[in-house]
Amino acid sequence: MIVSTKMLFEHAYGKYAVGAYNINNAEQIMGLFRGCIDSQAPFIIQISKGARSYTDKRLLEAMIRAADEIFPKAIFAVHLDHGDEEACMDCIASGFYSSVMIDASAKPFDENIAITKRVVDAAHAKGISVEAELGQLGGVEEHVSVSEADAKLTDPKQAVEFVKRSGCDSLACAIGTSHGAYKFSGTQGLHFEVITEIARVLPRFPMVMHGSSSVPQDEVQRINAAGGKLPGAKGVSEEDIAKAGKMGVTKINIDTDGRLVWCRVHREHFMQNPENFDLRPVGKIFMNEYAKYIAGKNQILGSAGQLESVREYIKNAKG
Ligand code: G3H
Ligand code: 13P
Ligand code: ZN
Repeated sequence: MIVSTKMLFEHAYGKYAVGAYNINNAEQIMGLFRGCIDSQAPFIIQISKGARSYTDKRLLEAMIRAADEIFPKAIFAVHLDHGDEEACMDCIASGFYSSVMIDASAKPFDENIAITKRVVDAAHAKGISVEAELGQLGGVEEHVSVSEADAKLTDPKQAVEFVKRSGCDSLACAIGTSHGAYKFSGTQGLHFEVITEIARVLPRFPMVMHGSSSVPQDEVQRINAAGGKLPGAKGVSEEDIAKAGKMGVTKINIDTDGRLVWCRVHREHFMQNPENFDLRPVGKIFMNEYAKYIAGKNQILGSAGQLESVREYIKNAKG
């Protein structure tokens, strides 16, 4: 069942975080749904601009509709990840998305607000919620390169003004993470002081953490042992993710970890089975392994086991 992102956030806020998983193909969709049913977790399925043009947005949307039928117990929201204004408007008009993210964080403050507000006005007219971004993550964002040195954490005071003036429903905050497999060096970690302060000045307002992959070290070692080259890859610790989820970080974005599972499964499979050229045996292994990864991640986020409680909450809210 496709539900509003807002309701998922209301149910989760301060208790657990909802996993927001990026998908690009059928195998990821199947693994994601299976993993969330196995762990009895609500979730957000998110589609980036790049994913929308990888095959065709209509193919992905149709596959998600089909997954909804194949897994009738699933409860999830459909979200556009890192949209520009044009992509947001397209998703809003389609009527399929629960929420969109407008990423104008590279623009000056007032321009970010103006763009976000235009998207909010169009989205709210259709009952769709909007995630905006304030501050800049280190590393590489879609279409936007921000060097580690220039990484700018979200200013809680600015966040209050931003939310008030833009009308956005959730805020992607720069709290020390970055996209991809190389997040931290040395003793860097999450800026819990920023999370605490934003939760204080914006009570019960959902924060979103981008760049939340844990980059599991066993995964990296297996990839490297099977011919990969990912020296020094490092992610956000699971303890930090679980802690953030109880502090008002209500949406945890994960893409890189899924890519690592895909990479490990395919590298190992073809190394161990050099005679094989069939896509289905390895595709099946990937779906199983990805489902296992998702179920384990939902345990960390605290969303595991929440499915029936969310169903009840939504039923009561609808009256
Ligand atoms: O934050 C970006 C996501 O990881 C999506 O990546 O734009 O390559 O699909 P992508
Ligand atoms: P990771 O690169 O850490 O998986 O972050 C994904 C993300 O933020 C998608 O918007
Ligand atoms: Zn992101």
